[in-house]
Amino acid sequence: MAGPRYAVFGQPISHSLSPRIHAMFGAQLGIGVDYRAIEAGRDEFSVKLDAFARDGGVGANVTLPLKQDAFALCAEVSDRARRCGSVNTLIRAGDSWRGDSTDGSGFLRDVATRHAFDPRGHACLLLGAGGAARAVAFALVDAGAHLAIVNRTHERARELAASVGAGARALTSSELDGAAFDLVVHATAAGHATATFEWPSSFIRSDTLCYDLSYGDAAAAFLRWSRAAGATRASEGLGMLVEQAADSFTIWHALRPDTAPVLAALRGDTPPSLAGA
Ligand code: ATR
Repeated sequence: MAGPRYAVFGQPISHSLSPRIHAMFGAQLGIGVDYRAIEAGRDEFSVKLDAFARDGGVGANVTLPLKQDAFALCAEVSDRARRCGSVNTLIRAGDSWRGDSTDGSGFLRDVATRHAFDPRGHACLLLGAGGAARAVAFALVDAGAHLAIVNRTHERARELAASVGAGARALTSSELDGAAFDLVVHATAAGHATATFEWPSSFIRSDTLCYDLSYGDAAAAFLRWSRAAGATRASEGLGMLVEQAADSFTIWHALRPDTAPVLAALRGDTPPSLAGA
């Protein structure tokens, strides 16, 4: 019989780095990991997930556009997943799925380890109030940040701030005039390589950490904009991707991989053979 199977579900999914990341984690820890990418839109997700479970699926990651659907089909969810209303990690428990969310913890770990940033007591700004923003909003406030949220549709920023509670407030973009932030997180879907940014940028100082939850081309516009505004610390979210994967891996395998060589391999700094060493 085949061993336990793992997968990432989403649409589009062919460019997902998760199978590579989990293979490198497994190689590093001497575990053979069968982890694949499975293309699934919202209408076919539950059927494909059932088939996956029948074929030996015991753990899955879930990405766009399925995180809220995954939340809805879990028999049980962790407190942090319940609070942000989204699930990126599924764990088979008997005949049903348990859900967790490692996006917020992955984000915090990346900013702490690679950018030496502790949100406690710091003024942080979140640009965006959609699915990607939610987990980060809760994680930042739980970590002690003073969080401001700005969104194209202000009402959504207000709703997110209200659900996060004390520690978060919604601002309009005109209220950003004269404000200053230690961390600015870009979490909108507006960031392909040729996008232009309409946000005011006076709140960026040279030492403001500017962080895009996306990576590669999707992060290029925000990174360009923040550097043009004077930021000397601007980062894409590849580290967050690896950290949230490490948290999922640890939930499934009860072993924590070393993320640094995996991130270096994804960036092309290290031969993949060393990342798995
Ligand atoms: P995701 O799960 O990727 O966050 P989403 O829930 O649809 O997707 O949210 C997309 C986010 O990007 C929202 O904050 C959205 O703003 P609205 O709430 O006003 O729709 C934001 N967004 C998308 N396109 C944008 C654009 N061109 N300019 C600014 N914000 C944009």
